[in-house]
Amino acid sequence: MGRGVGFGKVILFNEHFVVHGVPGIAAALDKRLVCETVLEPGQGWVLDDLRDPELKQGFEREWDKFKGAVDAILGAAGVDTSANRIRIRLRGDVLPASGMGWSAAFSVALARAVADEFGLNLTDEQIFQLALEGERVYHGLPSGIDPLVATVGGVVWFVKDKPNRFEKLKLPIPMRIVVAYSGVPSDTAKAVAGVRERKEQFKQKYDQIFEEANALVNEAKAALGSGNWERVGELMNRNHRLLQEIEVSCEVLDRMVGLARSAGALGAKLTGGGLGGCVVALTPDEELQEQVAQKFDEAGYRAVRALVGGST
Ligand code: MEV
Repeated sequence: MGRGVGFGKVILFNEHFVVHGVPGIAAALDKRLVCETVLEPGQGWVLDDLRDPELKQGFEREWDKFKGAVDAILGAAGVDTSANRIRIRLRGDVLPASGMGWSAAFSVALARAVADEFGLNLTDEQIFQLALEGERVYHGLPSGIDPLVATVGGVVWFVKDKPNRFEKLKLPIPMRIVVAYSGVPSDTAKAVAGVRERKEQFKQKYDQIFEEANALVNEAKAALGSGNWERVGELMNRNHRLLQEIEVSCEVLDRMVGLARSAGALGAKLTGGGLGGCVVALTPDEELQEQVAQKFDEAGYRAVRALVGGST
């Protein structure tokens, strides 16, 4: 039997900008997906989805991408599925909401399980590369920040480069956040393609916004490192404004960001691909976290209370 774990994630700063080489900061959530593989007589692979029923809702609509990602990961790992059938057992509590890194968490969990099953002895870098094959099926040409944080956990500073660069950031104490799902699925590949087009078309304007994003993420790194949550919150708000300017926010996300701020969050922004998907709100203490999460719940959004920069 093989077993592997991948973390759900939230992007704290610079989604989209990160695709173009600007640093981004992401954090692993204390939510994860677990894959177990069992070899049995037969060929190909089958899925035992052992997640809670509410986490499986709508999964059939994603089946083609899921199947494509499994095939891509098994193929890249050199697994011969004609000798045995692989039963993939899937467990875990990552909400399948675009923005929380479900596909990256799954891709990493499967890559780790397969490596374990076949004794491949892979490094984290190799696991990341395998998971990236799965991510490409879901998202086209991703930066790699999602599978990186799903692989290594913690809070990560990431630069897409050749080779990619990353650094784990140490927070003085873990940070409480609320991630809330708008109920509108986000098409990350489409949003990324839109930014690419507009960046070419409105070069001067976009160059300026990208420069601001670059300066901002450096300030965010310092603020996170010193546990200056007020400052982190302000920078999240500014980051949301930049994301609005590159047109990846939308009415529902702006409304949710407003709701979080008026409920007392120190900062809030969209997180992930945008144009739907999720927002993240900074709520350092437990009471504030509960207050903001409840506001989201009352307004009909799905809120996840999470702790980042702790043991994950
Ligand atoms: C998606 O979680 C984050 C994006 O920046 C895309 C990527 O980095 O691959 C929008």
